[in-house]
Amino acid sequence: MSQPFLEVKNLTVSFPTEDGLVRASNDISFTVARGETLAVVGESGSGKSVTSLAVMGLHDRRSAQISGQAILNLENGPIDTISASPDVVRKLRGKSMAMIFQDPMSALHPYYTIGDQISEAWRLYNDGDKKAGIKRATEMLDLVGIPGAAKRVLEFPHQFSGGMRQRVMIAMALVNNPSLLIADEPTTALDVTVQSQILELLKNMQKEFNMAVILITHDLGVVAEVADRVSVMYAGKIVEQAGIDDIYYQPDHPYTIGLLNSIPRVDQLEGRRLIAIPGQPPSLISLPAGCSFRSRCSFTSQVPNNLCATAVPDLDEKIGGHFSRCHLTEEQLKKARVSTGAQL
Ligand SMILES: Nc1ncnc2c1ncn2[C@@H]1O[C@H](COP(=O)(O)OP(=O)(O)O)[C@@H](O)[C@H]1O
Ligand SMILES: [Mg+2]
Repeated sequence: MSQPFLEVKNLTVSFPTEDGLVRASNDISFTVARGETLAVVGESGSGKSVTSLAVMGLHDRRSAQISGQAILNLENGPIDTISASPDVVRKLRGKSMAMIFQDPMSALHPYYTIGDQISEAWRLYNDGDKKAGIKRATEMLDLVGIPGAAKRVLEFPHQFSGGMRQRVMIAMALVNNPSLLIADEPTTALDVTVQSQILELLKNMQKEFNMAVILITHDLGVVAEVADRVSVMYAGKIVEQAGIDDIYYQPDHPYTIGLLNSIPRVDQLEGRRLIAIPGQPPSLISLPAGCSFRSRCSFTSQVPNNLCATAVPDLDEKIGGHFSRCHLTEEQLKKARVSTGAQL
């Protein structure tokens, strides 16, 4: 693998509130190379969006406390988007890094045509008049598979279906050929068939533009076809990080095992039931001592000395490139996978 394009190191984002400090993103580290897709997976509220907004420099620095680094390895040298000035980071958005959001309706302006909006995004970085911008917008709509692009470029957001709007958002995010694309739950609002079309499109676009892609989702089931590696987040921390096959076939964290058991799988064993993970994640204001997942974990009794309640497990590298934050031994994990049916 080439040098990573993005290196996130010990990124921590907290929000002071009346009730206390919300530790939304807690000592997060990961890398993504160009041509690679990292899926960031976790339940709602686990800190996925907060982490990506920090990388993009989109938090209000008056209300968010941010430490750590998010280094973009650009052609003319690295820039840390956390410590760089807002002006520098603004100029990176759109061109070096771009983001697509879960709800395309709130990201598109209702009163401007699709063509005008994509054209404006393009003209931020390119010398060209409005006509050239509309031509470029038409090309982009065509590229993302919108039929009749020349006509549709003149239409307004409300004239597009949910799936087509998400294609428009992808076209807009890619119009300046960004090196990094962060897609934050790009398919959550869509029905299953359209979901897989959009994921397929993202995969094709990644090849076309050789981008580093971060695909954020709460659904581990959707990433199998597109992700190279997966970071599983729980209560603001990465609890497991590994290649996609390891995540699916050798999950090392009881939370990942739980996520796998709660999704329908094509390769599902006969008679295996879908089981939702019981309980709720802890409050990010008063994280418990020890492992954050312990109140929902069925294996804590196997760990001696009440360790799960007293010591936060480290994110240890088990085998090459496979990290997990759990006190269970490899032997115990093997049994856990088998007993829950996560081991196929
Ligand atoms: N501006 C903010 N002020 C206080 N808490 C916030 C703020 N933004 C996000 N949070 C909290 O941070 C946690 C993580 O949120 P988020 O990253 O949006 O989760 P998700 O994994 O669903 O994307 C949530 O508990 C959320 O309520
Ligand atoms: Mg989110």
